[in-house]
Amino acid sequence: MNRVLLTARSMIRRSLLLQTLTRNITISSSSSSSSAIVRPPSETILLEHSRYYFLSNRYFSSSSSSSSVADQKKESKEENKSSVISNDAKVAKAAVSSYWGVSRPSLTKEDGTEWPWNCFMPWETYRADLSIDLNKHHVPKTFLDKFAYRTVKILRIPTDIFFQRRYGCRAMMLETVAAVPGMVGGMLLHLRSLRRFQQSGGWIKALLEEAENERMHLMTMVELVKPKWYERALVLTVQGVFFNAFFVLYVLSPKLAHRIVGYLEEEAIHSYTEYLKDIESGAIENVPAPAIAIDYWRLPKDATLKDVVIVIRADEAHHRDVNHFASDIHFQGKELREAPAPLGYH
Ligand SMILES: [Fe+2]
Ligand SMILES: [Fe+2]
Repeated sequence: MNRVLLTARSMIRRSLLLQTLTRNITISSSSSSSSAIVRPPSETILLEHSRYYFLSNRYFSSSSSSSSVADQKKESKEENKSSVISNDAKVAKAAVSSYWGVSRPSLTKEDGTEWPWNCFMPWETYRADLSIDLNKHHVPKTFLDKFAYRTVKILRIPTDIFFQRRYGCRAMMLETVAAVPGMVGGMLLHLRSLRRFQQSGGWIKALLEEAENERMHLMTMVELVKPKWYERALVLTVQGVFFNAFFVLYVLSPKLAHRIVGYLEEEAIHSYTEYLKDIESGAIENVPAPAIAIDYWRLPKDATLKDVVIVIRADEAHHRDVNHFASDIHFQGKELREAPAPLGYH
């Protein structure tokens, strides 16, 4: 009896999956351009995220065919059918996922190769804005600003002593810290939103985006520098202290917390600039960029470490601006939700 029920349930689910795939293909086909990387419109992204396992597998493909839309639909439908079968075959190997139907469909890159990452999706990739002003600086005027600035300058002393000019190792270790403030701030704003029944103005997502972006910096750096056991131990200790200290600080004074992060980002820009100098002088080998970095920042296939450092430094400049901006909002006696959050700003 149970077997009959399971078989019937499986058939109904398969039928629903195929119907929805067909509907999504229509959306993707009508929005595709001729040669560029195809990103789904925002409505489609929402659809993707909310109904994840109904995804089409054609989001990141390029289309230069002159065939009609109807032909493309037919072709896509056939491809998706085979994709469903191939995914089902994969899922069949992982029996637990198969039952719940939450397997990730296969995605393709613009060159037709399979999307290799589970940790980020094609629509989360971007080209870094390298035009950002790297020299912008918030001049500390108030007591809190000066306190934040001095705190960061003091924190830099042991960092300089410990790492000296080992910028690869330094970047990797500091990224383990850099990804904490966005997560803490986002989490606390999330809880506040729940407590007060209020929207956050997009700031929860903006801060969590920052944390994710910083974590991707770490995932990139760790491909280049393998942490030693004592460095792992140091990360463990620093994370334990820093997470709790920043949590308390953000509860007590979000404007000071954001200001400190703003100055930390200014220091990060400085560190990556020094890193670049050593790469350019030959002191650090300009090795090929890790594959994860090439896909995340949409870098050319022959990109190098120098290209990676340049895009990470641009990200840090964006984080600097977001955090100083957030602090300024608080300094003006307002809450973050009163100013639209800079979503997707990196
Ligand atoms: Fe970073
Ligand atoms: Fe940063």
